[in-house]
Amino acid sequence: TPDTCESAAGSSASHGDVVTDGQALAKRYADVRALSDSIVAPLQPEDCVLQSMPDASPIRWHLAHTTWFFETFVLADRCDAPVADESFRYLFNSYYNTVGDQFPRHQRGLLSRPTVREVMGYRRDVDDAVVTLLRNADVVDESLARVIELGLNHEQQHQELMLTDIKHAFAQNPLYPAHVDAECGPCDAPELQWISSDGGVVNMGCTGDRFCFDNELPQHRVFLEPFQIANRLVTNAEYQQFIEDGGYQDPRHWLSAGWATVQQQGWTNPIYWIRQGEGFDEFTLGGCHPIDPDAPVAHLSYFEADAFARWSRARLPTEAEWETVAREPSPDDPTSGECIDALRPVHPTHGTPSASGVSGLYGTLWQWTSSSYGPYPGYTPPEGALGEYNGKFMCNQYVLRGSSCATSPGHARRTYRNFFGPDARWQFTGIRLARSV
Ligand code: AVJ
Ligand code: FE
Repeated sequence: TPDTCESAAGSSASHGDVVTDGQALAKRYADVRALSDSIVAPLQPEDCVLQSMPDASPIRWHLAHTTWFFETFVLADRCDAPVADESFRYLFNSYYNTVGDQFPRHQRGLLSRPTVREVMGYRRDVDDAVVTLLRNADVVDESLARVIELGLNHEQQHQELMLTDIKHAFAQNPLYPAHVDAECGPCDAPELQWISSDGGVVNMGCTGDRFCFDNELPQHRVFLEPFQIANRLVTNAEYQQFIEDGGYQDPRHWLSAGWATVQQQGWTNPIYWIRQGEGFDEFTLGGCHPIDPDAPVAHLSYFEADAFARWSRARLPTEAEWETVAREPSPDDPTSGECIDALRPVHPTHGTPSASGVSGLYGTLWQWTSSSYGPYPGYTPPEGALGEYNGKFMCNQYVLRGSSCATSPGHARRTYRNFFGPDARWQFTGIRLARSV
């Protein structure tokens, strides 16, 4: 129980970049945790235990793992009484070898216990303990405040993963269940334009004066040749031309590893497109709908994005190019595209063009870059178990920038680096083209 926890109180109220006010932090904690509950609210227990592929996890596992994160990194060192069953340490540890062994990832769908109800109870127990800990302090110790902030950003990452994983699970079912009941009007694509940049020496990465993940640090300079970047994302109609031109049958468009994947997996169209006579329907979290030709094409792998770009006589932007033309998202500015309703990520749109004419940077689809996910110059992972959070995955993955219609409100930023392997298709990913001049 929280009574046996040591005090969370810290000494000074002015840390600038991190919220240390106990009441404010407790409220932010409760708000972020509540969004997970809302995402899960439309689901039945039967939905919450499915694991449709090794890359995806059951909803129940996400709910338990994000809770395990707070128990392990916030409560364990501070409270005498354990909140949960000792087995949870093993079952819901994702990949932290510093913490201990892990239940095999690809078998997460084989566990019927603890039940969904028991996991919801685990969430409530940990929430009570964390909220009490924070409320009992006027000023929260700075290092604790930083771990809470990391845990909340971690929860938000898993909120998006819950949506992509349930979408993938539902897509296996010929009944094509809907997660939300949302009507989407047709999308209007702005005319394609190329935004020019002179390049030169630019700063990239986070300054560290507010929350960011370690992989966004340190800020450093890079040199860019002049380039152009598309004002909007590639549309379904444009991607359909690639399909009709035999794009999936022509090895000249593809990287060697991409072509091997196309053949092994039998890819002929994006993952959630379902052939319907002459055209296609698309499976969404709102059920199946005819493809909207003007909407941004979604759920592509890096391999598909790269092949489409080559077929278009263009290329994918580097992450430095993307960051140079992007500006910060803001919930107060509708033109920034910051996602307004994370519960209805049915249909990405192009967003409203900003003053500089660029649309869809945020709240639409993650945009593949040609940049391998690696450490910035001078990067060092944090000490201890949390050093395993990002750094050890810097191999064989590509960076995605922006955010998607499934990204939680307030989570995106200009320097954010998402990353997935080149064959991953189940995330809300799209294409913004670039070219050299
Ligand atoms: C940044 C989305 C690739 O999926 O493993 C979740 C997010 N990190 N828990 C992932 C994450 C730790 C991460 N991605
Ligand atoms: Fe995680």
